[in-house]
Amino acid sequence: MRVANKVALITGGASGIGLSAATLLAKEGAKVMIGDFNVEGAKQAAAQITAAGGEAQAVFLDAGDEASIKAAVEATVEAFGKLTVLFNNVGLTNLQKDVDVVNMDLAEWDRLMNVNLKSVLLGARFAIPYMQQAGGGSIINTASMAGFAGDNVRSAYGSSKAAVVNLTRYIAAQYGKDNIRCNGVAPGLILTPAAKNNMPQEMLEIFGKYNALPYHGEADDIGYAVVYLASDESKFMTGQTLQIEGGHYMKNPTIADIEEYMSK
Ligand SMILES: NC(=O)c1ccc[n+]([C@@H]2O[C@H](COP(=O)([O-])OP(=O)(O)OC[C@H]3O[C@@H](n4cnc5c(N)ncnc54)[C@H](O)[C@@H]3O)[C@@H](O)[C@H]2O)c1
Repeated sequence: MRVANKVALITGGASGIGLSAATLLAKEGAKVMIGDFNVEGAKQAAAQITAAGGEAQAVFLDAGDEASIKAAVEATVEAFGKLTVLFNNVGLTNLQKDVDVVNMDLAEWDRLMNVNLKSVLLGARFAIPYMQQAGGGSIINTASMAGFAGDNVRSAYGSSKAAVVNLTRYIAAQYGKDNIRCNGVAPGLILTPAAKNNMPQEMLEIFGKYNALPYHGEADDIGYAVVYLASDESKFMTGQTLQIEGGHYMKNPTIADIEEYMSK
């Protein structure tokens, strides 16, 4: 019961990382509100958690819409009496339109900044007054390892996630004295249903080649970190983003190329 007496709103909680976090938080004693624009999926997830003995409800939430985020925060407080944990987890990418800087679709840039970044600001904005009322809270944001590197494609996704890393620090700096902490998780490739469906086996093998560990990440690898950040176990930690990526970004790939060159 690592998060007993906590009340959590999880955005994008019907699938993948959000579903894992919702399930594990409930298992560890939190009351959870699952917010998702797939409201049927959110209801199913809440029913599964309830059947397993946890406490969960579902609410429609569109992370691209300010009024909807506000309504989901308010629905959480109405359902469970307070809000002490917010997991800002929704994030999107689009490999067709989110490409390099010269060619990228500007409407897609705006859409991704709105859904990936502004939703984090808005979630925090609406949750913080309730956390202040409750005497404190923990906000957790899903960034990405794409926020720590430059790349040939996904300019908007990577930039939005880098901004999430820094917005995490700003929230931590501004509300720490209210006992409100703000931290992030930056996943590498995690085999959520979406990732599995979008990536052929060959592509997974290319990813696997660069992991320091011999396996891919799973949603629970992030979900357990969210439980830690939501719990008082992390009470002296704020403004940080945990990079959970199997050691993928640790090695300099140039060295492998140099080794190959030297061996010739
Ligand atoms: N899976 C990975 O490899 C990976 C890697 C790095 C970062 N991330 C980040 O993790 C987060 C979750 O990703 P996932 O892989 O679990 O995704 P997923 O597709 O499995 O789940 C995303 C959930 O969010 C919901 N959703 C999407 N847009 C929404 C919106 N506008 N409003 C409300 N709900 C919405 C979907 O219905 C779905 O239930 C995202 O922020 C993503 O950028 C994922």
